[in-house]
Amino acid sequence: MCGIVGVVGKPAREVVLNGLKNLEYRGYDSAGIYLNDLQGHEFLTKAVGRISNLEEKMTPDEQGTTGIGHTRWATHGHPTEANAHPHYSADGRFYLVHNGVIENYADLKEKYLKGVHFNSETDTEVVVQLVGKFADEEGLSGYDAFKKVLKLVKGSYAFLLVDNTKPDHIYLAKNKSPMMLGLGDGFNIIASDAISVLDQTKTFIALNDGDHADVTKDSIEIEDVDGNKVERESHELDIDPNAASKGTYEFYMLKEIDEQPAVMRRLSTEYLDENGEPVVDDKIVDAVAKADRIYIFAAGTSYHAGLVGQQIFEKFAGIPTEVGYASEAGYHFPMMSKHPFFIFLTQSGETADSRVVLTEANKRHIPSLTMTNVEGSTLSREADYTMLLKAGPEIAVASTKAYTAQVALQAILAKAVGEKLGKQEAKDWNLKHGLSIAAEGIQEIVDGKEAIEKLAKKYLIPSRNAFYIGRGIDHAVSLEGALKLKEVSYIQTEGFAAAELKHGTISLIEDGTPVIALINDPVTADLTRGNIQEVASRGANVITIVGKQFAKEGDTIVLPEIDYYLSALVSVVPAQLLAYYASKDKGLDVDKPRNLAKSVTVE
Ligand code: F6R
Repeated sequence: MCGIVGVVGKPAREVVLNGLKNLEYRGYDSAGIYLNDLQGHEFLTKAVGRISNLEEKMTPDEQGTTGIGHTRWATHGHPTEANAHPHYSADGRFYLVHNGVIENYADLKEKYLKGVHFNSETDTEVVVQLVGKFADEEGLSGYDAFKKVLKLVKGSYAFLLVDNTKPDHIYLAKNKSPMMLGLGDGFNIIASDAISVLDQTKTFIALNDGDHADVTKDSIEIEDVDGNKVERESHELDIDPNAASKGTYEFYMLKEIDEQPAVMRRLSTEYLDENGEPVVDDKIVDAVAKADRIYIFAAGTSYHAGLVGQQIFEKFAGIPTEVGYASEAGYHFPMMSKHPFFIFLTQSGETADSRVVLTEANKRHIPSLTMTNVEGSTLSREADYTMLLKAGPEIAVASTKAYTAQVALQAILAKAVGEKLGKQEAKDWNLKHGLSIAAEGIQEIVDGKEAIEKLAKKYLIPSRNAFYIGRGIDHAVSLEGALKLKEVSYIQTEGFAAAELKHGTISLIEDGTPVIALINDPVTADLTRGNIQEVASRGANVITIVGKQFAKEGDTIVLPEIDYYLSALVSVVPAQLLAYYASKDKGLDVDKPRNLAKSVTVE
């Protein structure tokens, strides 16, 4: 995780600070900035907490035309000022920011840096101290010393390095961690993602792993991992910078929840023609149709979307489907069928755990597809195929609209593959209509959000813990509802297959425990009613989220009638809103829950 920004060739302070603010979703434990004005003045400021703390600490004279900055999500070392980046060499010549993890930092320290005083507990400082040592003792140029260090380090990194004897240069290197190089008129800019600096340029070069470069205001020299000079293609990014603005909303999370009807309509227009037939690249459909088993890999919310997708693929494409945590599969690769097809669900396209699985899949020549919200992201570039979620930038750390987009996009692909395989269920499935009903249903719920806020205040905020229960797709949504509530409100919440509670966990139900029950599965609706009775009779405060066709007197939230296989699109929305209000009305920072980062680029 962590976010980095660097710029050469223009007043750097505001550019770096603005970029870092846009990257705060990648971590917000602490932050720092180094500026050099090329006139012999340099400034280093660090602060614990948000970028605003850093900004407050800086004096007006801190200016420069070369700058690097960092917003941190702590891996090695507590979130203190000393551990905040940039880190610097003992002689004060080199300044470095880093996103990633140096796995062999302890060995390097032991082998090369005995007796050197360290200012921090971080893995990163080893790198800048080594650059300083090699430059000093071996008389290497700053860049050559850096390149020597790159050959020694193992792990993931996006580095930006400034040598104050050549302050009009930024040296960079990338391996596994994301990094985009933005091209400006008379300046160049580097950042962890392109959106964070979209106010500066729309032209970007995506670097390959192993690339390192020497960047000045009007030159970029890239070398690949073997030191060969290489040209990397640039591309224009077609994103409206306003799509990433909060508008009149207090928090991005609510804006993104509210955007879901529009996302459903957009996916329907872009991926289904006017007759409702899927418009999906034939190559993708053919590749999936050839598979004897689909394996979906993902993390967190995306994993929960995969659990819904599993049921949809099996029903409409007729292909057995498995879903796995990427973080587990990467190290215990599952036993494969003869003709597997891998689908990676990832909002950011950067999740390190998922990338480990993709790298292994590529080694084994297993065909793969990434469904992601971020065009040009690492998992998108490294998979055989990509389908974009088209949800617009998702800024709040807690994922909402990317989840519903992932469910909808899996449904579109399942229908396309099922039709290709001649499956009657797929041909008969009026998905265009279904998505339109989902869009209307979501709209109805977000229009009635005040009632959901009242429920959050009355039942959730006073409580220390809570449960979500459901069966079938409702179970998958229970897991997502629980994750959403706990991550933003800090109320400990578990999602359960409704009938499993009685096998142990029901002992936790006491007077006033909130239990949120989902009922959208025609097969098990009555059984879940029974499970509700079991917890209610033990004192639970039950909130029901029920499809209209199953509703009974006394139900709390009644959803519009929707196809079971698309029910997650609608039933998750009250859960998102309950989480949002539980967090907001507790006075928490909804968009940036503690200890989290949006793009998880460490394993
Ligand atoms: C929770 C959340 C995370 C992400 C997970 C995977 O609200 O956002 O659980 O879903 O870190 O991230 P992506 O989808 O970017 O791979």
